[in-house]
Amino acid sequence: MIHACSIRNLKKEYVLKSETVRALRGVSFDVPEGDYVAIMGPSGSGKSTLLNLLGCLDKPSSGELLLGKDNVAHMSDNQLAEIRSRRIGFVFQSYNLIQQLTVVENIEVPLYYQGRLGAKERKRCIELAERVGLGERLTHRPTQLSGGQQQRVAIARSLVNDPYFILADEATGNLDSKTTAEILALFDELNDEGRTIIMVTHEDDVAARAKRVVRLRDGLLQSDVMNDPLARKAAAAHALDPVVETADEQAMHQPTTAPAN
Ligand SMILES: Nc1ncnc2c1ncn2[C@@H]1O[C@H](COP(=O)(O)OP(=O)(O)OP(=O)(O)O)[C@@H](O)[C@H]1O
Ligand SMILES: [Mg+2]
Repeated sequence: MIHACSIRNLKKEYVLKSETVRALRGVSFDVPEGDYVAIMGPSGSGKSTLLNLLGCLDKPSSGELLLGKDNVAHMSDNQLAEIRSRRIGFVFQSYNLIQQLTVVENIEVPLYYQGRLGAKERKRCIELAERVGLGERLTHRPTQLSGGQQQRVAIARSLVNDPYFILADEATGNLDSKTTAEILALFDELNDEGRTIIMVTHEDDVAARAKRVVRLRDGLLQSDVMNDPLARKAAAAHALDPVVETADEQAMHQPTTAPAN
């Protein structure tokens, strides 16, 4: 069976002057096509390192890493760049948008770098902006958008190459709960379309939305658990609940009226 990705005894060491940091110490698991995986674990456990390897942003020290049929563990930098730009969609916490460019232009960036930006592609970028709910904001620049809107630009940009899978590192990390719910609803839609999603998160209620939760600890796989499908549905429904104010908060928001006399 061909998986979206398959890793075997994956290790990554960072060699510094004074020490060698063993960020991943032999991790193995498979991600079937269409899976939705949340990667969790304490700070420093190797989550971003793993995501960077899956995204071909860095090379493993040893082990195997298959994306589809391709073993990327032994590829050259040029081959990795090719895979990265054509097959992987990245969504990071710090959006990485270009401030001088508009919403549509930011979505166009990956195509621009590949010299593939024609009229047809421009139209597709507008459709992607509409898809993520930014049809009314096409010519806005990042500073004129909310955090959630900026994250949606980043998601639209990640889709521009019709990626094989989407990698997200703390994609909802600095968003409020309503915006987080919107972004996760978008991920649900993309996953329902069959796109494979792998996301790093610190938050239990975000991880509850994935099909599966992989936990790392000290560079090793600690656990790999499927989320119950019914619990997932409940988590998705719950995310859309309006926030209920406590009586104290309601009292705080009451307009103060002058006493009648
Ligand atoms: N470029 C690097 N050079 C040296 N060490 C690094 C580098 N990147 C990460 N590390 C180290 O590797 C280990 C794993 O880091 P990583 O960024 O993968 O953790 P993480 O699980 O993503 O943590 P966080 O939740 O804080 O983002 C840490 O000890 C970190 O200090
Ligand atoms: Mg990290």
